[in-house]
Formats: sequence, structure tokens, C-alpha cells
Amino acid sequence: MGKKSDIELIVGGLRKDKRLPEQTREIKMKVGNIVSANGSAEVSFGNTIALSSVHGPRELFPRHLQESQTGILRVRYNMAPFSVDDRKSPGPDRRSVEISKVIRLALEPAIFLDDYPKVTVDGFVEVIQADGSTRVTGINALSLALASAGIPMKDLVTACSVGKINGTLIVDLNGEEDNNSESDVAVAIMPTSNLVTLLQMDGVLTKEELMHLLDLAKKTCKDIHEMQRNVLLEKYKGEE
Ligand code: CDP
Repeated sequence: MGKKSDIELIVGGLRKDKRLPEQTREIKMKVGNIVSANGSAEVSFGNTIALSSVHGPRELFPRHLQESQTGILRVRYNMAPFSVDDRKSPGPDRRSVEISKVIRLALEPAIFLDDYPKVTVDGFVEVIQADGSTRVTGINALSLALASAGIPMKDLVTACSVGKINGTLIVDLNGEEDNNSESDVAVAIMPTSNLVTLLQMDGVLTKEELMHLLDLAKKTCKDIHEMQRNVLLEKYKGEE
């Protein structure tokens, strides 16, 4: 990551998976697919698939963890052992602990947690297939799962990755592109409020390139936000 790669990832203006630089992979979204959860969603970007479930608001135990004035959001991000070609050892590691935290921080600003003193909202992100950009796929999924659980939200949170490969600025890095990128940037946005809730960058970019990538991320998130809204409207239209 962050190094100039000798691998040809763009040939004749197209990426290896035939995408244009600013094109995402095929994005699919479902909500309400896990019936035992209060809310759930599945989001895929090409071969990256994240399942998310939300449980709560529910009373938080042990009680000393409770906040008297507000509710809390807890997030667990996990990559299934079978989600990558080289089997990943099961259980939490430093990466999953960090990603769980950044997903939580990306979503917290969108939720009215003050309405739920002493309770927890538990969000799970399970990556069942990993081919790059899993944290942003997980953020899109958890945002939908929270909305489908009926948790009051100021806005949906919408996320995508952008970056630079072979000197070209691109949108939505797949696994090979991520591994060989000169830079990759994960961005989460609350589109209606126009707030950025996650910005993580690896590698090297000029300031102009970074600004251009943020612009691309904003445009891409606008389209993803539209898809999120549509899948929620489609699922819940007509329900009380
Ligand atoms: O997935 P994301 O881009 O948010 O985070 P990353 O740590 O930059 O990981 C990039 C990619 O590396 C993942 O999406 C997976 O495709 C791959 N990876 C892997 O193959 N094995 C791991 N243990 C971790 C990541």
C-alpha cells in the first residue's frame, strides 16, 4: 500500500475488471434480511459482501457501562475466516478492533443516541466475502441496518473508497487495486447534512489529488445514498 506499483492495473484507460477509473463495481443492497435482528442489511460492491445486523436499543449490562444521559452504540466488525483466499484466522485482531472503532465513529454522529439513556444499540458487520473496501461496504450496510431497526437518525451515512493506481485517480478499489495502490482513501459522508464522518488515507497524494478524490467520493456517495434511500423506501413503503 502506498507504493508505486509495477503491476499494470489500468490498460487502455480501463481497469482489470473493465471499469472506468471513476466507476464503482456493481452495488447491491438488501434490507430486513435477518429476521431475528431488529434491523439488518446486506450490501455488496462487486465481490465484497458485508452483512449487518442491529440489536436494540436494549438495556446495557453490566450497569456500570451505562451512560445516564445518553445511549451508546457498540460496533463489531468481523471478517469471516472464509472471506479471503488465504483463510483468515478467526476472532478479533488489531485490524478488526480498529475498523470496528472507525465504523462506530463514522455512524455515531448520525444517530439520536441522546433519546436512549442507559441503553445500547449493538451493530454487527460481518464481511462474508472480502475483495477490497470492506470498511466502507460495512458502513453502508450498518447505516441501512440502523435505519431498518427504526433507530432515529439525522441522516443515512454513505461511504466509498477512492484512491490512486498507476498514476490514475479511481473510485471503489477492489482487493488487488488496494494491495497495489499508490494511495487509498476511505470516506464516509452524511449526504444531507454535508458532513464527513470518516476520512482515512494511506499512501501519498498531492493536495490537489486529495481534493479531487474527495470530490469524486462526494459524487459517488450521492449515488449510493440514492440507492440506500430507494431500498429502504421499497422495503418499508406502506408499513405503519
Ligand atoms: O477492506 P478495507 O479496504 O476497508 O481495509 P484494508 O485493511 O485496507 O484491507 C484491504 C483488503 O485487503 C481487504 O478488503 C481484503 O480484500 C484484503 N485483506 C485480506 O485479504 N486479508 C486480511 N486479513 C485483511 C485484508
